[in-house]
Amino acid sequence: MNSFPDHFRWGVSTSSYQIEGAARQDGRGESIWDMYVRRSGVIAGGGTGEVACDHYNRWQTDIDWLSKLGLNAYRLSVAWPRILPEGTGKVEQRGVDFYDRLIDTLLAKDIEPWISLFHWDYPLRLFQRGGWLNPNSARWFADYVEIVVRRLSDRVTHWITYNEPQVFISEGHLQGRHAPGLQLPWKEVLLAAHHALLGHGLATLSIRANAVKTPSVGYAPACPVSLPASNTAMDVAIAFAESCSLTHETLWNLAWWLDPVVLGHYPLNAAEIFGSSMPNPAPGDLEIIAQPLDFLGLNLYWGPRVDAKHRGTGAVWNYPVDHPRSAFGWALTPEIMHWGPRFMAKRYKLPVVVTENGISCLDSIATDGNIHDGLRVDFLTRHLAMLRSAMNVGVDVQGYFHWTLLDNFEWADGYKQRFGLLYTDFSTQTRTPKDSFHHYHDVIADKGERILANQPGIVEPDGWESDEEVLQFAAK
Ligand code: FCB
Repeated sequence: MNSFPDHFRWGVSTSSYQIEGAARQDGRGESIWDMYVRRSGVIAGGGTGEVACDHYNRWQTDIDWLSKLGLNAYRLSVAWPRILPEGTGKVEQRGVDFYDRLIDTLLAKDIEPWISLFHWDYPLRLFQRGGWLNPNSARWFADYVEIVVRRLSDRVTHWITYNEPQVFISEGHLQGRHAPGLQLPWKEVLLAAHHALLGHGLATLSIRANAVKTPSVGYAPACPVSLPASNTAMDVAIAFAESCSLTHETLWNLAWWLDPVVLGHYPLNAAEIFGSSMPNPAPGDLEIIAQPLDFLGLNLYWGPRVDAKHRGTGAVWNYPVDHPRSAFGWALTPEIMHWGPRFMAKRYKLPVVVTENGISCLDSIATDGNIHDGLRVDFLTRHLAMLRSAMNVGVDVQGYFHWTLLDNFEWADGYKQRFGLLYTDFSTQTRTPKDSFHHYHDVIADKGERILANQPGIVEPDGWESDEEVLQFAAK
């Protein structure tokens, strides 16, 4: 394997609620997360995002760290309630100014900003007006997007509408494990999902209509692809089919969130699975939803393995107990970096960008004052090698954004999970680079040459790419 191409984007991803803190500063409105974290027992250790990494006040130092890493791109999210404290209506100029300064500083350091317009911190005021269940919710989102795009698109060109709709709709409205903590019946959950899809379409239209610089627009669903249990053409075909289908009543899949957006229809078997809970799109809705996109963002963490025996059973936790895992307990499956981009590029025919990939570890400061996170170092090597192997078979992968720059507020897990390349001491707000920070720096500096030298990649299955029968089977 050779190195990564010169134009490759090397980045990290963060999100506003997880790092900014300053929850009451400069006129920021409340988000549903501010509300949710006040419920007792829902966040590990009772953590909140009130202070988080205090990035809102320490952003300059944090950008210096980005620079030290040698990145050429940075994916951040804009907090909707900082721009519009009520969700709609009056703009809070101090919120706009914050992102304005951030972007100027990034650009001055040759770091390209990639903006996620929504990473879950939904304005509380809009939730009180029905949130995603309100038929106006798609329009509210598009109006907010217009404001951001009008202010920032003279400098920003890369836009991502949503981060992981699976999570803010399913975890937030069905399982109730995330804000706003609802457990609604399917009919309402699917209605909220439909409005969110419409919001994506309207927002994309709004970006294209209002951007000063020609925009590159994408979308970043969670990418829970199924992985082939072996590299036989049959297992690969089964994994591809699973990754592209709706197999049972769940929104934790890609078909629900990508078929409408890219192909212009709900999964063909959607009505079979959800029956009378299916939304009834108004005429024209699907045309709005299916706006042409410039890239597909993929958040890749781990995937279940499937084979003929497990086909159609949904996510299969068939990893043995001694399989390597993150501190979260997620199985480590580096091959997701090969099959995720490859399957999605094949199915949806768009260039892909890894918008998130990372690992939580039980990091601590050693007696020498450093953080020796060998597991994360190894994770980066293995995952990047697999990503490169997908590019070697022709997948157009434009960039890699590691999750994440610094340990932060990890949603329901509070401060228990550390995903950062920087170790955050939350009592002093000190950031200390972990071994993985230096490792990622070196990888970027030689475009992966050193780590790729000894990595085997995937053993190419026989026949899969060219076998028409398998493709037809997978498309069902
Ligand atoms: C993803 C989220 C991100 C972070 C990582 C660990 O699902 O997009 O905010 O929580 O998981």
